[in-house]
Amino acid sequence: MRITNIGSCCIDHVYSVPHFVMPGETLTSTSYAIHPGGKGLNQSLALAKAGAEVHHAGMIGQDGVWLKERLEKFGVNTQCLAVINAPTGHASIQINPEGENAIVITGGANRQIEAGDIQGWLAHIEPDNYVLIQNEISNLDAVFEASAAAKQRLIFNTAPMGSNVMDLPLEQVELFILNEIEAHAITGENDPKHILAAMIELYPAASTILTLGAAGAIFKNRQEELHQSAIEAEVIDTTGAGDTFTGFFLAHYANKRPIAECLSMAAKAASICVARPGAATSIPDLSEVMKL
Ligand code: RIB
Repeated sequence: MRITNIGSCCIDHVYSVPHFVMPGETLTSTSYAIHPGGKGLNQSLALAKAGAEVHHAGMIGQDGVWLKERLEKFGVNTQCLAVINAPTGHASIQINPEGENAIVITGGANRQIEAGDIQGWLAHIEPDNYVLIQNEISNLDAVFEASAAAKQRLIFNTAPMGSNVMDLPLEQVELFILNEIEAHAITGENDPKHILAAMIELYPAASTILTLGAAGAIFKNRQEELHQSAIEAEVIDTTGAGDTFTGFFLAHYANKRPIAECLSMAAKAASICVARPGAATSIPDLSEVMKL
């Protein structure tokens, strides 16, 4: 089963800091590194490393050609990743001593994607194949329109949450992957139980995975509800953990593995990711996850 990820690619500028910078403060970082990133790229890499057939569609500038090469190195098909005359998207990421992050992104080429590009990318994909999206590219509504017309199956990781999300025809989504902040924005609820009940009421045909950080994750649809605990790890940098979870879950889900197995593989992969620095660079191989 083919998964097409229409997603962002970013150059991540990562600063280790004693604390997140305060209003009016100038802070010296204790270390600095450049890593490949972007929720789209991270999820494509995680899918490929988990064994899925993945095509990444999107846009980068000349300064981001190394990101394309990185995707290709791990077996991601990049025929629909265009190099355009615009700067590649980038992220400024602060990492505090607890491994938490604070991120500012600039869309760059990720926000130059037009509806026509999306229609072209999806036009040749067979019905029933998966289309994965996050909320870091322009014209997401065109993905909804084109994937509905071609009867493809839409998976939506609603990160980072924005007001545009509620204007989308979300009833088309087969599987939502969201955290508590995103879930609150959609349902108005705070308690995980109430969030998941509200998701069923709003989108009865969809499944939802609610990620809860250290408290694990819950999968729920009308038929079943499964809880997955987070796997303990020494936290160095949580950046990309959600993307790793999404990629490993979806690779196994698309392969029709039982949901409990999909959740377990995703949680294991995320626990390896948080114990390493960087986003894309910290995604484990399938063999490492299997050993855990
Ligand atoms: O999810 C982590 C990613 O969010 C980072 O790689 C950064 O690029 C931002 O998009």
